[in-house]
Amino acid sequence: MVEQREVDLRVHLGSVELATPIVTASGTSGYSLEYADLADFRAIGAFFTKSITLEPRQGNPPPRTVETRAGLLNSIGLANVGLEVFLKEKVPQFQRIPSPIFVNVAGRTIDEYTKLAGRLDEVEQISGLELNISCPNVKEGGITFGTDARQVSKIVSAVKKVVKRCLLVVKLSPNVTDILEPAKAAVEAGADCLSLVNTFTSLAIDIEKQRPVLANVTGGLSGPAIKPIALYMVHRIYTQLCKKANVPIIGMGGVQFGSDAIEFLLAGATAVAVGTALFVEPNTPAILAEYIKKYLADRGLTSPTEIAGKLQLPA
Ligand SMILES: Cc1cc2nc3c(=O)[nH]c(=O)nc-3n(C[C@H](O)[C@H](O)[C@H](O)COP(=O)(O)O)c2cc1C
Repeated sequence: MVEQREVDLRVHLGSVELATPIVTASGTSGYSLEYADLADFRAIGAFFTKSITLEPRQGNPPPRTVETRAGLLNSIGLANVGLEVFLKEKVPQFQRIPSPIFVNVAGRTIDEYTKLAGRLDEVEQISGLELNISCPNVKEGGITFGTDARQVSKIVSAVKKVVKRCLLVVKLSPNVTDILEPAKAAVEAGADCLSLVNTFTSLAIDIEKQRPVLANVTGGLSGPAIKPIALYMVHRIYTQLCKKANVPIIGMGGVQFGSDAIEFLLAGATAVAVGTALFVEPNTPAILAEYIKKYLADRGLTSPTEIAGKLQLPA
C-alpha cells in the first residue's frame, strides 16, 4: 500500500504563487464579480479576466455563441468596457477575489498593447498580464499578431519594456502550422510564461437558412473537441522549448474533468485553465483540485510539480 502524505497543491508561475494549479480561462468568467459567488476560490490558483482593450468595444453582433457537438463556438469579438472604466469600476471589485488576478489585454496595434500594459502594471492588485495576441474573432490585430513570429517578437519585446512588476504571460494561437515558432519568439522576447491554447477558428452552418449560424460568420472553437490538439501543443512546447528555458506553461483547451487536468500536467503544464466547462459547472475548479489531490495522494506524491512534464515516452 502506498503511504499517503499531506498533499500541497501550491505551484509557482514565476514569482506568483498559486494555491492550486487550476486557473480560470480568460473570457469565461467576466471581470470577476460575475463569478465571485459561483465558485470556491480556495481552489482557484488565479483568476483571469476577459480581454480588456484601450477603448470600449461592443463586440460582434449576435448570435455570437453556438453549441457544437463537443464544444462551443464563440465570436464575442472582445466586447469589454475599455481600460478607463475597467480601472474605475472593475479593479475595485477585485477585493472580493482572494486569488491572484491576471488581466488579459488585447489591442489592434503594438502601441495599444504597450499603453494598456503600462497602465495596468501600475495597479497593485494585479499580479500578471496575459497578452491575448491570439483572438480569432476580431478583424484587425488579434490573430495576425499571434500567427506571425516576427510580430510576436515585436509586440512582446515592446510590452516587456513597460512591464516592471507584473508577470508577463503570452497567450498563443493554435491557428498556425507550427505553434513552436510563435512560442520561441515570445520566450526570446521576454515572456515569463506561456498560455495555450486560444480557440480554433471554425464555422457552423444553419442548413435551413443556408447561412452561417454566427453573425460574424466564423468563431473560435473551445471545449472537449479541442482537448487532444491542445494537449499535443502543450507537450510540443514543453519538450521543445519551455523545459529547457524554464518557462512555465498554462495549459488549456477542453478541460472539464480531473483527469483532463492531470493529462495537461503530465504533458508539461505547470497550471491548467478551465473555460468552457465553467458554463456547465461554475465550481469546476474545486472538483478538479480535489481530483488532483487524490490522484497525488494515491501515488504517495505531495505536489503537482512531481507529475508536471512527467509523460513517459517510448524509448
Ligand atoms: C465565451 C468565450 C469567451 C472567450 N473570451 C476570451 C477573451 O476575452 N480573451 C482570451 O484570451 N480568450 C478568450 N477565450 C478563450 C479561452 O480563454 C480559452 O483559451 C479557450 O476557450 C480554450 O479553453 P476551454 O476549452 O477550456 O474553453 C474565450 C472563450 C470562450 C468560450
